[in-house]
Amino acid sequence: MKSQVLQITAIVAATIVQGYEFVRLNKTDAALLIVDHQIGLATLVRDYEPTVFRQSVIAHAAIGNLFNLPTIMTTSAETGPNGKLPKEVTDLHPNAPYIKRNGEVDAWDNPEFKAAVKATGKSQMIIAGIVTEVCTSFLALSLRAEGYEVFANTEASGTFNDKLAADANRRMEGAGVHLMGMFGIVADLQRDWRNTSPNATEVFAYMDKYQAPVALMARHYSDAISSAGNA
Ligand SMILES: *[C@@H]1O[C@H](CO)[C@@H](O)[C@H](O)[C@H]1NC(C)=O
Ligand SMILES: *[C@@H]1O[C@H](CO)[C@@H](O)[C@H](O)[C@H]1NC(C)=O
Repeated sequence: MKSQVLQITAIVAATIVQGYEFVRLNKTDAALLIVDHQIGLATLVRDYEPTVFRQSVIAHAAIGNLFNLPTIMTTSAETGPNGKLPKEVTDLHPNAPYIKRNGEVDAWDNPEFKAAVKATGKSQMIIAGIVTEVCTSFLALSLRAEGYEVFANTEASGTFNDKLAADANRRMEGAGVHLMGMFGIVADLQRDWRNTSPNATEVFAYMDKYQAPVALMARHYSDAISSAGNA
């Protein structure tokens, strides 16, 4: 009987892993995790150009402010070579839990971090970290094992090269982690441009800072409208 139950459990688990399930982000269910975006670790990142990556790290942190999401920051051994979080990130979240791990590689192994995640009461975790195949994926896989929906912001996770990023992303995806870029995450959280808190004006102000192509399109449109008005 027990082995039958185990067999059925294994079949159900296999089905979940194989079939992609479309899960939408919902700003009332989501929390944001900032994992080891440390300045020393950032020097290891080779799959994004440093200027772009720095912007993506700050943009990731700012998703929490834009949608008023519970946000948790964590670092690994920050008094050593890994370094601190960028000031731009900590300034965005002066009152957020900030868990400085002294040893645990997987943030989920740290009881204080785990308690902070549970205390959010949220079921969807938006995460990014350095490096992708360690800090991001170990935590993403642990969260999946605990039953959380996980949305990995692939633009704000970096590693040594594209091959390792692809391997780490494939591993996460196999466990049902949703791999998305910043614009996808923001658009899904916003859901409808007519929504408020934030409204479209606020989302475009965010884009204007962090997503140049969308910002340029919006500026181009508003310039066209105002010149039409002046004609
Ligand atoms: C988000 O979830 C809440 C309940 O948790 C629900 O009331 C709401 O309709 C959902 N919003 C969207 C856009 O799905
Ligand atoms: C969007 O929200 C901001 C802040 O609450 C407010 O100042 C602004 O008027 C709103 N814009 C629109 C178009 O509703």
